[in-house]
Amino acid sequence: MTSLHHDATIMPQALISAQNLTQNIHLGSQQVSIFSHLNLSIQAGEQVAITGRSGSGKSTLLGILATLDQASSGELYVCGAAIHQLNEEQRAKVRLQHIGFVFQSFQLLGHLSALENVLLPLRLQPNFDYPQAEQRALMLLEKVGLARQAQQTPKVLSGGEQQRVAIARALVSEPKIIFADEPTGNLDGQTAREIEQLLFNLNRELGTTLILVTHDTQLAAQCQRHFILKDGKLSERGERE
Ligand SMILES: Nc1ncnc2c1ncn2[C@@H]1O[C@H](COP(=O)(O)OP(=O)(O)OP(=O)(O)O)[C@@H](O)[C@H]1O
Ligand SMILES: [Mg+2]
Repeated sequence: MTSLHHDATIMPQALISAQNLTQNIHLGSQQVSIFSHLNLSIQAGEQVAITGRSGSGKSTLLGILATLDQASSGELYVCGAAIHQLNEEQRAKVRLQHIGFVFQSFQLLGHLSALENVLLPLRLQPNFDYPQAEQRALMLLEKVGLARQAQQTPKVLSGGEQQRVAIARALVSEPKIIFADEPTGNLDGQTAREIEQLLFNLNRELGTTLILVTHDTQLAAQCQRHFILKDGKLSERGERE
């Protein structure tokens, strides 16, 4: 008789998988560990929150998972690529193809219009096609509620509007993963809620995996998974010790 039970040893392939991830920094002549031997596995489409006190290493961890920085040691697989074995140029290719990033401070280019800011990641792609790219950028600006402001430069946009441009820019190349480091930290309460809902809606609608660093425990509780970074170790809420 054939069994209908799933074989517990066959796991769906993780989108992000880290083993023994360790980050040390040099402070003067001393070597200090920010975190050590972290293990983590994230599946496609998940919403993941990372919380922890200021200085606990959240941004450091996010930068490494997003392939912007390299860990001191350990293995990291992102979208099937063995990141720990790649050089900067190869990592940049993985980023361009699969990863979008939203920062607390928006980081838009001030002399470019909202539309041009959103278009930037596409300009870096080898098969860049202006009419098609512009259409996609405008579609995303519309999705984040900024269709009318497409030609404005960031300085005339409000903080919340600038962050929505940054979200459209992060999504324009259809990344598999969006990393967001305190994306609402610079916004008032109500605007922060709107931006958070926007990120969640886009996660559901487009199936984009969302990895969010936040100080907001309520927001973290809304995510399917919640990791806490403390004393250089990562634990997951709801997991048995
Ligand atoms: N390149 C670096 N050189 C020296 N120290 C660093 C470096 N990167 C991070 N650190 C230190 O590592 C620690 C963790 O920093 P990190 O920015 O990751 O914390 P965080 O959890 O994001 O904090 P916050 O909530 O305040 O943003 C801090 O003490 C920071 O000073
Ligand atoms: Mg930080």
